[in-house]
Parts: sequence; C-alpha cells; structure tokens
Amino acid sequence: MPKLENILLVGASGRMGNCVQTLAQERGISIQKCTTRPCVQLPSPWPSDVSVVIDFSCDSVIGQMVAKLLERRPPFPPLVVGTTGLSNDTMESIKLYTQRAACLVASNFSLGIAILRACVRLAAAKLPDAFEAEIIEIHHRHKRDIPSGTAQSLLNDIRDAQMLSHGASGETTPESVKIHSLRMASVVGEHQVILAGPGEQLRLVHQAENRSVFAHGAFHAAQWICGQNPGLYHMEDVFGI
Ligand SMILES: NC(=O)c1ccc[n+]([C@@H]2O[C@H](COP(=O)([O-])OP(=O)(O)OC[C@H]3O[C@@H](n4cnc5c(N)ncnc54)[C@H](OP(=O)(O)O)[C@@H]3O)[C@@H](O)[C@H]2O)c1
Repeated sequence: MPKLENILLVGASGRMGNCVQTLAQERGISIQKCTTRPCVQLPSPWPSDVSVVIDFSCDSVIGQMVAKLLERRPPFPPLVVGTTGLSNDTMESIKLYTQRAACLVASNFSLGIAILRACVRLAAAKLPDAFEAEIIEIHHRHKRDIPSGTAQSLLNDIRDAQMLSHGASGETTPESVKIHSLRMASVVGEHQVILAGPGEQLRLVHQAENRSVFAHGAFHAAQWICGQNPGLYHMEDVFGI
C-alpha cells in the first residue's frame, strides 16, 4: 500500500481541519492547506507529492474545489470527502471527478457508525412490519446541516432494508420513519435508532466522544483509497462491511 505522505486539506481552519492537522503532526504526515476564502485556490506551485485530498469544509466549497482539480493535468489525486449535507449539484461534481480518480464520500468516518448502520439494516429487514422506527441525532450548536448526514444515511438504510424485505405494502411505510434533530452545547455527535413493536423495543446508540475518531477514520480512508481505481467508494468498502 502506498505511504500517505502529503495531504492536501480543504477546510483546514475548521473544527475537523484542526483535528486532522493534530493527527497528521503526530504521525509525521505533512499537510498542505487549500485556501477556501474568498474562493478556492489550490496550492501553487502544486506539491508533487500530494497523496490525497481530504475535505472537511462545506457544500459550496466542494464544487469549486473539484473544478480546480479537474483544470490540472493528470494524475488526479484521490479525494476523501467528509463534508455532510451535500447538494445534488455537489454530488454531480464529485461523480464527474470519479471518472478520473478514486473518490470516497462518507457522512461519518467512525467504525462504530459503520457497524451501527449494518445492525440497523439487519434489524429493519428482519423485524416485522408492525415495528416502527425513529431516529434521534444530537450535535453541537454550530453544526450547519440538519438533519445530520449520518441520520440521513441511517434513514436510507432503514428504507432500503424495509423495501427489500417487506416491499412497499407494509403496515409501517418507509416514509413514516422520522429523524428528530437536537442541537445542544458542544455535543460531538450521538445517533440513536429506536425500533419499537408489540411488547418490545430495540435501541441502537452510537456516541462519538471526540472528533479524533473521525480524523482517524479519515486517515484510514485516505490510506485505503490511495491504491484504488477511479470510482466512487464508501466507508463500507474501507471496512469491508
Ligand atoms: N464525515 C465525518 O465523519 C464528519 C465528522 C465531523 C464533521 N463532519 C462534517 O465536516 C464538515 C466540517 O465540519 P467542521 O465542524 O470542521 O466545520 P467548521 O468548523 O465550520 O469548518 C468548516 C471549514 O470550511 C470552511 N468554510 C465553511 N464555509 C465556507 C464558505 N462558504 N466559503 C469558504 N470556506 C468555507 C471554513 O472556513 P472558515 O474558517 O474561513 O470559516 C472551515 O475551514 C461539516 O459538513 C460536518 O458536518 C463530517
């Protein structure tokens, strides 16, 4: 596996950007920062040894960043996107980039969330129609997107699993699953899925205790993607779940 040597970081001044820089320092990996204000500017001259681009910014930055990367001559660096709340236009830009390079989009980089999603898919598929599902997500007050990207992914997991297993004719329609979002103090991130049915209740909860869990996951993803062919990947591919 190629060594992760030099990361181009988009969103370096943010909460996650700072966390990624701390981890890179601990691991002896160099970081190049990508300017995002007043507009996206790639480093010039381009550092020849950039292994991967990691993004923790916001939706409006990504389209600009991808356009700038595509203006360059090949080789195109792999891209790891951690930003959540992506618009359809942004996803289209990312898909365009996947024709040239490997690209991973993750609403959550933690292993715990990948396992939670697998458990939720299993539960939604196996529990009978009579079970109702609800999702609660709690984050810090500064989080921009609501609901969280992870809650949205969990909702899609429940819908897909129920549709596959029960079809659209079940008593509990996939549309009836709701996300309840709370914004409180400095909470890093909590996701809870409640499945309640006749006489029993199943609660699956994940709590992120600090942001470094996401930074570690982003580095794991960045290391993994360096050896991949152009295409769109997810954390399930990285963890083999
Ligand atoms: N995938 C995961 O595991 C995971 C985990 C945690 C967070 N996230 C997501 O990662 C993203 C960043 O989170 P964060 O907490 O680090 O946010 P943050 O502290 O607000 O940082 C956002 C970064 O993006 C830049 N930025 C924001 N809006 C911009 C704009 N309109 N134009 C130019 N630059 C802009 C900011 O620059 P300034 O400093 O100049 O404002 C900053 O560097 C969010 O979408 C969050 O939901 C994902």
